[in-house]
Amino acid sequence: MHETTPIAFITGATSGIGQACAERFASAGWGLILTGRRLKRLETLKQHLAESVPVHVAEMDVTDRSSIERVVESLPEPFGNIRLLLNNAGVALGKGPAQEAELDDWLTMIQTNISGLVTVTRLLLPRLVAHGPGATIINIGSIAGHTPYPGGHVYGASKAFVEQFSYNLRCDLSGVGVRVTDLAPGMTESEFTEVRMKGDREVARRYYAGTRPLQPGDVAAQALHIAELPEHVNITRLEVAPLCQQWSPFTILRE
Ligand SMILES: NC(=O)c1ccc[n+]([C@@H]2O[C@H](COP(=O)([O-])OP(=O)(O)OC[C@H]3O[C@@H](n4cnc5c(N)ncnc54)[C@H](OP(=O)(O)O)[C@@H]3O)[C@@H](O)[C@H]2O)c1
Repeated sequence: MHETTPIAFITGATSGIGQACAERFASAGWGLILTGRRLKRLETLKQHLAESVPVHVAEMDVTDRSSIERVVESLPEPFGNIRLLLNNAGVALGKGPAQEAELDDWLTMIQTNISGLVTVTRLLLPRLVAHGPGATIINIGSIAGHTPYPGGHVYGASKAFVEQFSYNLRCDLSGVGVRVTDLAPGMTESEFTEVRMKGDREVARRYYAGTRPLQPGDVAAQALHIAELPEHVNITRLEVAPLCQQWSPFTILRE
């Protein structure tokens, strides 16, 4: 690997936005560390991308601290100088009202979207700080972190955490040249809704039917743009939604 090849560490690279980021960054010449729980998918992606750029894949569950530690500690030397951490792994589970939600779903969202993201970040911070100017953390938030909706409960709250954590990280890291961005997409067509519906493809299909949602590649294009800006430019928050997704007025409950 050429020593000037920038390296991106991506969580949740097995599908959707994470996979699209892997493809988009590879086409721009970035070396890649691709992680996720489904190793087979990572290996297939590697086969496809490693023809053009250096790729390292590792099975990693962000809810399992020791799994993250193992991956970080065993990074092959050429992949050590990380320029970008893309904290993308995340889940929404369940769509009913809070009073009908499964407590286990809430805890899984917290463990993945909050604890997982925080743990990966903390363990990779020394490498990003050592990289210095140009290093970037992109945390994938959501418009749900700003805009509440029925059934959003813990998912929306977890993405509000991602936004605020990003701002607070930025306060501490700007002095050492590390940029931090909360990249907040709206409705994006991926496996996200199928996972939310516990594998019910029909509900997922109906959710996207008749709409023109963002494609994962649309979000990946924004991530690459953020990462390749001049070193002194930090986009603090970037919200991107499809044209078809709109606010609605407050609902007034009447007796
Ligand atoms: N789709 C949307 O409408 C939308 C909108 C706003 C924000 N987002 C955010 O965008 C991010 C990516 O979502 P997506 O739309 O691309 O959904 P997706 O297709 O379901 O991808 C989610 C990714 O997260 C990974 N992941 C989930 N749990 C994990 C765990 N415990 N450990 C490691 N990886 C884990 C999955 O990999 P494995 O299952 O292989 O581990 C998968 O690669 C998420 O943070 C999501 O909240 C999505």
